[in-house]
Amino acid sequence: MNLLITSCVMRACLWTLVKCLSVSGLLVLSAHIFTVRRKDPATPSPLPAAEYRLLSPDTYGYTLTPAAGFRDTPPFLLLLVPVSPGEAAARDAVRQTWGAPGRDSRALFFVGLPEGGRGSGVQAQLEEESRTHADIVQMDFQDSYQNLTIKTLMMMSWLASRCPNASYAMKVDADIFVNVFLLLRRLRSSPQRGFISGSVISDGRPRRDSSSKWSVSEELYPADSFPPYLSGAGYVFSADMAARISWASRFVRMLPLEDVYVGLCLRVLAVRPVYSRSLLPPRNLFEIQHLDYDRCTFAKLVIVNGFTPSQLGEECSSEMRLSMSIVNQLKMMGNC
Ligand SMILES: *[C@@H]1O[C@H](CO)[C@@H](O)[C@H](O)[C@H]1NC(C)=O
Ligand SMILES: *[C@@H]1O[C@H](CO)[C@@H](O)[C@H](O)[C@H]1NC(C)=O
Repeated sequence: MNLLITSCVMRACLWTLVKCLSVSGLLVLSAHIFTVRRKDPATPSPLPAAEYRLLSPDTYGYTLTPAAGFRDTPPFLLLLVPVSPGEAAARDAVRQTWGAPGRDSRALFFVGLPEGGRGSGVQAQLEEESRTHADIVQMDFQDSYQNLTIKTLMMMSWLASRCPNASYAMKVDADIFVNVFLLLRRLRSSPQRGFISGSVISDGRPRRDSSSKWSVSEELYPADSFPPYLSGAGYVFSADMAARISWASRFVRMLPLEDVYVGLCLRVLAVRPVYSRSLLPPRNLFEIQHLDYDRCTFAKLVIVNGFTPSQLGEECSSEMRLSMSIVNQLKMMGNC
């Protein structure tokens, strides 16, 4: 009796297996036909002109640029910091810490137009600030979260056309702790071309819930996963990548997620983003979570996310300030 049941169950199982196999065979076959029919992803087609115009920096004009000659005396590392026009406190905190001009690094702030446009009070203050510090680059598109991808391409275009002989650049937000000493030391042994590195997100998927800030419609991005991309908090690249990413943007549709957008450009270029980590101890050097300041932990990380302007500015301890500078780092590493 038991044996009979077992053999029945087995027969049923076998039958299910046969059905499964034939269905999956069909699926494989149709997937094959589908991929053969689709265009080869290695030769993407350029965007329609009107679509490319919207995101290309060539469409917009510079309203503020630093006078200093970046072309003739390019820094080894250029720190490209996107901020909104009204964030003067964030810019000051950066100037006082990791953005202070050094022998090997310079910081530049990238902004669009404030809400009230060129006649606004924010704009007048920004122009004053630019006269004092000469470290602001502004273009005449409206500064908004939606337009961050335009801003990223503007940074790439500025670097490629105005400072082509820098060795490296880093896109880094203003609310980040940056250990410039460790960053420069690592860059000295990094590839000089075709290099882009940070915290790699390799399993990113579009969010479809329209309540999310990061929501992407199926119409805008039909695929259900993103190619590997670098967290936008901070990533570093060899300067040649600026012109290459600008070029690749001709083939990539506008997406309001600027870090994913750069990942899509990298896929067009067949450049793989490199995870920046240490082996001993195994650790992501571009920390995208916030951590409370600790001298030994921060001495071994390149960036840490999530600091307010006052945490980097007036509330910043002298020890933490030292952790962000290029001097005295051996002292920072002492007894760690
Ligand atoms: C930039 O680099 C190129 C190639 O290495 C060189 O020919 C050119 O003179 C450099 N430009 C400046 C301004 O240093
Ligand atoms: C930028 O963003 C704003 C609001 O998010 C939008 O109205 C505007 O058309 C966008 N584009 C440009 C080029 O300013």
